[in-house]
Amino acid sequence: MSIYGRSRVKVPASTANLGPGFDTLGMALSLYAWIEMEEATETVFHLYGDEMKGIARDKSNLLYKVAQMVFAEAGVSVPELSISMYSEIPLTRGLGSSASAIVGALAAANAMIGSPLGAAKLFDMATALEKHPDNVGASIFGGIITAVWDGEHADYIRIEPPRELEVLVVIPEFELETVKARGLLPAEVTMSDAVHNISRTSLLTAALSAGRLDMIGRAMQDRLHQPYRAPMVPGMEKLLAEAPGHGALGIALSGAGPTLLCMVDRNGDKKQELENFLKETMQENGIPSCTVWLSPCTSGVTAELIERNGMQNESFLDMIKGELQS
Ligand code: HSE
Repeated sequence: MSIYGRSRVKVPASTANLGPGFDTLGMALSLYAWIEMEEATETVFHLYGDEMKGIARDKSNLLYKVAQMVFAEAGVSVPELSISMYSEIPLTRGLGSSASAIVGALAAANAMIGSPLGAAKLFDMATALEKHPDNVGASIFGGIITAVWDGEHADYIRIEPPRELEVLVVIPEFELETVKARGLLPAEVTMSDAVHNISRTSLLTAALSAGRLDMIGRAMQDRLHQPYRAPMVPGMEKLLAEAPGHGALGIALSGAGPTLLCMVDRNGDKKQELENFLKETMQENGIPSCTVWLSPCTSGVTAELIERNGMQNESFLDMIKGELQS
């Protein structure tokens, strides 16, 4: 009989950069992945949903490897695991699917063994894996985060998203690997571009903290990454330039793309116009896409221990069905 419990985790998707805050700003979004993990006699995976196709089902699986890092850090040995996962977060579209998987696996493994590692330690481990703290920080802590990574430790401050803030994403059907999108960036930037981004990032952080939605559009301007990534996303330049005229408070490439994310006033009267504009622009460029209305997610990853050893409890899939209906 195992000495460890069965853990269940719910982890939000995230958007990174918010325009100027390259590798710095992140926001959790109301799209989720769920993971269940327990000790087993033989390692087995139950991966559900379209987004799980093609994911490794052996010990090279990212969730398995991340869980083993937690056990090593905590000084325990749990070599065989049963891992279940369902995700509604599209893969390699700039909505933090890999960060959610890393954060979910860290939280699930940690909860399984009695949560010996604190959130700050999990944040450092997640950032060491992702190499930048923006997506993982948002998935761990929820809300909006501004974070700094010194190569060993991540510092952050969490900002409560303004209540009126809603998000509209347009998700192109094609995938864009982060490593490829980062490969497009120059090794050096000019002082004026650096100052451009520092000033906008500071203004955006302050605007989000103060609920100054009127400043978001002017602050969500970037010269460090979006201009170099635009050629990979047909229609992106037009969307960045014209979405504010169709009702967006501001618009940015979500993370490394190809998704574009608009910040919107929940009570605005041009929401349908904006959605039509995003869809039509993608269509004009021959890019199949979908639009999704989301909210900033105010809670980060949550983990619980499930009763086991003969006790009745809801199955993983029943739990997912309940969550998706609610
Ligand atoms: N800040 C990262 C980037 C997010 O823009 O490359 C993607 O993981």
